[in-house]
Amino acid sequence: MTELWTRLQDHRKAQGSARIEDLFDADRATAFRVQADGLTFDYSKTMIDAGARDLLLQLAAPVAARRDAMFAGDRINETEGRAVLHTALRNLQGNVTVDGQDVMPAVRDTHARMSAFAASIRDGSIAGQGGRFTDVVNIGIGGSDLGPAMAVLALAPYHDGPRTHFVSNVDGADIADALKGLDPATTLVIVASKTFTTIETMTNAQTARDWMAKAVADPGAQFVALSSAKAKAGDFGIDEARVFGFEDWVGGRYSVWGPIGLSLMLAVGPQAFDQFLAGAAAMDAHFRDAPPAQNLPVMLALTGIWHHQICGYPTRAVLPYDNRLMRLPAYLQQLEMESNGKRVAMDGSDLSVVSGPVVWGEPGTNGQHAFYQLIHQGTMPVPCEFILAARGHEPDLAHHHILLAANCLAQSEALMRGRSLDEARALMAAKGLEGAELDRQARHRVFPGNRPSTTLLMEQLTPFALGQIVALYEHRVFVEGVILGINSFDQWGVELGKELALKVEPLLKGEDAPGHDPSTEALAALIRQMRG
Ligand code: F6P
Repeated sequence: MTELWTRLQDHRKAQGSARIEDLFDADRATAFRVQADGLTFDYSKTMIDAGARDLLLQLAAPVAARRDAMFAGDRINETEGRAVLHTALRNLQGNVTVDGQDVMPAVRDTHARMSAFAASIRDGSIAGQGGRFTDVVNIGIGGSDLGPAMAVLALAPYHDGPRTHFVSNVDGADIADALKGLDPATTLVIVASKTFTTIETMTNAQTARDWMAKAVADPGAQFVALSSAKAKAGDFGIDEARVFGFEDWVGGRYSVWGPIGLSLMLAVGPQAFDQFLAGAAAMDAHFRDAPPAQNLPVMLALTGIWHHQICGYPTRAVLPYDNRLMRLPAYLQQLEMESNGKRVAMDGSDLSVVSGPVVWGEPGTNGQHAFYQLIHQGTMPVPCEFILAARGHEPDLAHHHILLAANCLAQSEALMRGRSLDEARALMAAKGLEGAELDRQARHRVFPGNRPSTTLLMEQLTPFALGQIVALYEHRVFVEGVILGINSFDQWGVELGKELALKVEPLLKGEDAPGHDPSTEALAALIRQMRG
């Protein structure tokens, strides 16, 4: 651990029992926020004071060089020997090379092919064997599912294309429920898999093809592949013209900007999709150009480092006050935990500080009626990241939106302020309680307060704003990874699961499968017995 980390920890200790509320002077509400292209990140309701901010910014010193290396196409994913260039997918006029090779002509060509294809599906000039496509089923998992599934729901007001469905789980229930009621002759199936080997996706793709084959003469003609493994997509029977490829420098969880976003493009149209890209490109430009203290991804990341590595809070909650951002927490779980949930630094040494936090969340106000009890009165503080749009998409229901926004602000205020024992006692006294009973009841009604939260505020959840927000979180993960010394772009921890499932499968089929532990063998035997 470097001296800077120690100084930060000392700074935190020196804050003692100081309260967030007491940090507020005339300027704090505006001095502890960052703005970019209509987006505001307010971190004033945290214990980050000027001294902490200064030290945190020093911690971020290595970020600029690493960021420039990423945008320049250097192979910063060192454990896989790859460049990291998802940003190139949203910077179509840009100029990006990898090892001296201009990568942009291929990116532009694929984007143009996707746009033409999406337009033709949407206007019916490409139709299914039973007529115009009414439904699209995206089959993929992890980064090949979460991004488009999250974004299609988020941009529902812009949805004017075919109905879109997502299948990810190898549990047959997932695909059975998704296909129920669909007409194979007017359904387009997208097989989204960077590697085209992921067992869940390939199993679901085969099931979808069998389903399709029962109803149409040429099932392959109603399939599309989104993959880096074009030859494997061909082997599956998907025509080259229906394969949209991308390079190994686009990581799965960073891939919604290119072909993996096709289901989104089909749903909202190429123009709205381009607005989504434009929002992300604007965030990229801000990330590159804004000074660190005014840089949204840098300050969001430093707030995360402060809460997790310095204050020791083990989790963070993402709480969108926007029902259409329902899938954002799940999307961020992969983005953040698959990227920064690692115990070894880039150079192979053990991390000297803890790695990334557990990320979780649900839209407000639903969460308020479920887990906010723990957030307000549990023993462990949970830093909350509120997300809110000033306006909804339902002008006739503006009163709903005001109530929604009021709840969001009320929660962050209550978390910070809490309710003191004296206030709780006064409440109980007003109800006529006295003596020991008043004391007992009052203690249950105390809120310690001093619980940190941040608020990310946008004008409206448009395609542009969604692009900004997703790119913001991507860069936040990057900045935290650089500060921790982690490679945020590999995922060796997930690869193990892929191998192990294949080794356990024979056990469940009653085949010879040596090398398993007694508990696993006994459970497998029980499952075999229950299945009969
Ligand atoms: O879950 C692990 C992972 O490798 C993710 O990184 C990726 O998004 C997902 O599997 C799906 O992989 P593929 O797109 O190759 O099917």
